[in-house]
Amino acid sequence: MSTEEQAGFPRPSDLELAGHPQAELHERAFSAAREHFGGQVFVRGVVEVSNYCRQNCVYCGMRRDNRALDRFRANPARIAEMIIECRPESITDLNIQAGEDPVAVREVVLPLVRVLRRETNLGISVCVGSLKHELYDALKAAGASIYILKFETADPATYSEVQAPGTLTERTDNLRYLNASGWFVSSGFIAGLPGQTLEQMLHNLRFATDLPLDGCSVSPFIPGDETPLSKARSAGVDLTLNSMAFLRLLKPDWVIPAVSALNLAEPGSGYRRGLRTGANLVTINLTPSELRDDYLLYKRDRYIMTEELILRAIEAEGLRPSQVGLAQHYLRRKPQLAVA
Ligand code: 5AD
Repeated sequence: MSTEEQAGFPRPSDLELAGHPQAELHERAFSAAREHFGGQVFVRGVVEVSNYCRQNCVYCGMRRDNRALDRFRANPARIAEMIIECRPESITDLNIQAGEDPVAVREVVLPLVRVLRRETNLGISVCVGSLKHELYDALKAAGASIYILKFETADPATYSEVQAPGTLTERTDNLRYLNASGWFVSSGFIAGLPGQTLEQMLHNLRFATDLPLDGCSVSPFIPGDETPLSKARSAGVDLTLNSMAFLRLLKPDWVIPAVSALNLAEPGSGYRRGLRTGANLVTINLTPSELRDDYLLYKRDRYIMTEELILRAIEAEGLRPSQVGLAQHYLRRKPQLAVA
């Protein structure tokens, strides 16, 4: 029997569980994560290095049509120095993130990855969009090993309506290429996009579990400032958490992040509830504050996760930071992917 059959695939109404049955579901998900990861949570940093974006996703504040945004590309030497000299002790990995900006990939991300590979033992992940295969290959050769590329929604019509990058088929072709070319791959989808049905949410889960992934996020839809959806309703945190719980039960060995938007969906407690639902990756934001304000994913008023907040949340949930880094963990599972 596959893990999926053992876990039982949820029905649409399961995504709306509340009260005692919901608490029970979340406890099962938390136990599954604990069994698999021994109560350890991966702690990474994120640095946002460019908010130029050639895409126009209607939910995202960095979309190219947002003229109100001051666009920046970070200086790689400066970011490298900040990471090398003053990164929080607790991080084992660094995620380098940007709008879809191939210029920044060449001029900022690649040099940054090379320096960090040489000067630190951080695992390096990148979240920089749909690119030509040569650029993926160059990033891997430079020393990154984890690629994050979200499919956003598994419904092809919604995918095109929200103007997500290219087509859904192209996005999944990219995910398959990344997997086949030796990356550890994480994807993700948005819960509660306007008009999304419970059946579509289940389809997101099914679609994710059918892809060759090592991890997947569930982000609550937040009506982004300066986007066409700014007046839409936020996703319910419960829909998001229930989806995360089922994902954990279907894929006990996947790395599932607690995303910072959980705290926008439910101020003060959303993030901790993510950890209580089987999430096993947290992210400390290391973007220099003068750049951060223009990295507009959701709201101008972002919820910035500092090291102190993160470590407190982990401890409060009876968990502890993993001594083994994320990239290192993946490599132990697939040693054949070690680069010579
Ligand atoms: N709500 C939820 N998730 C969003 N993202 C961007 N904007 C929003 C939003 N308004 C997520 C998308 C994107 C990632 C960088 O952030 O999944 O891929």
